[in-house]
Amino acid sequence: MSTVPYANYEVKKNLKPKGLVGLSEKLIDQHWSLYEGYVNNVNLLDKMVWECLQEGRLLQTPPFSELERRLGFEYNGMILHEYYFGALAAGIPEPGKSSKLAQRFAKDFGSFENWKRQFSEIGKMRGIGWVTTTMDPSTQRLINFWVTDHQLGNVSSFIPIVVMDVWEHAYILDYGAKAGSRTTYIESYLQNLNWEMIEKRMALADQSKVWPRDLTTTVA
Ligand SMILES: [Fe+2]
Repeated sequence: MSTVPYANYEVKKNLKPKGLVGLSEKLIDQHWSLYEGYVNNVNLLDKMVWECLQEGRLLQTPPFSELERRLGFEYNGMILHEYYFGALAAGIPEPGKSSKLAQRFAKDFGSFENWKRQFSEIGKMRGIGWVTTTMDPSTQRLINFWVTDHQLGNVSSFIPIVVMDVWEHAYILDYGAKAGSRTTYIESYLQNLNWEMIEKRMALADQSKVWPRDLTTTVA
C-alpha cells in the first residue's frame, strides 16, 4: 500500500508477452519501454499536480492546466497498454463458432466474424490511437470504439474487453510505415490475441451488475 498521497504505480512485469508470432521480440521490447514511460509519467505528473494543489503553486496558470490535462493522456496510456500486453500470447486459437464467447460476440455484432471485421476496419482508420471492444455495464452490450491518442473516446465506466494499439510504434519496426502496414499488423495482432484472457475479462464483465450512474435501480 502506498504511503504517499499521490500515484505510485509499478510496471506490471508479468504482463510482458513473449514468443509472439509476427511481432518480434525487439518490437515488443521497444514498445514495452514506452509503456514503462507511461507508468513513470503517471507517477511524476500525479505528484506534480498534488504538490501544486497542496502548496498553492502555479494554480490558475497555463502550466498547471497543462499538467492537469495531461493526466488523462498518461493514465490512459498506462492502462490501455496493460490491457493490450496482458492479452497477447501465441498459439491460442480463436473461439469456435459454437463457443460461449463467440456467441457472446455474435449477440451484439451479428456474428463473431462481423465483430472481427468491424474491429479491424476501425483499426485501419487514419491517425494514431486504439480500438477497443468494451461493455456497457448497464446493458451488458458490447460496442467497438476508436480512441484517439489514449484519452479521447474512452467512455466512463465502460469495461474494456479487447484492446488493440494502432499507434505506429506498435508495428513500424516489423512492418514499416508503407500503405497496408497497419492491415498486416492487425492480422498479426488478432493471431496473437489471448482468447483465454478475453474469456476471463468477458466473464468478469458479465458479472458486473453495478453501474453507479444509476443507483436508483436495485442492484442484485
Ligand atoms: Fe503503444
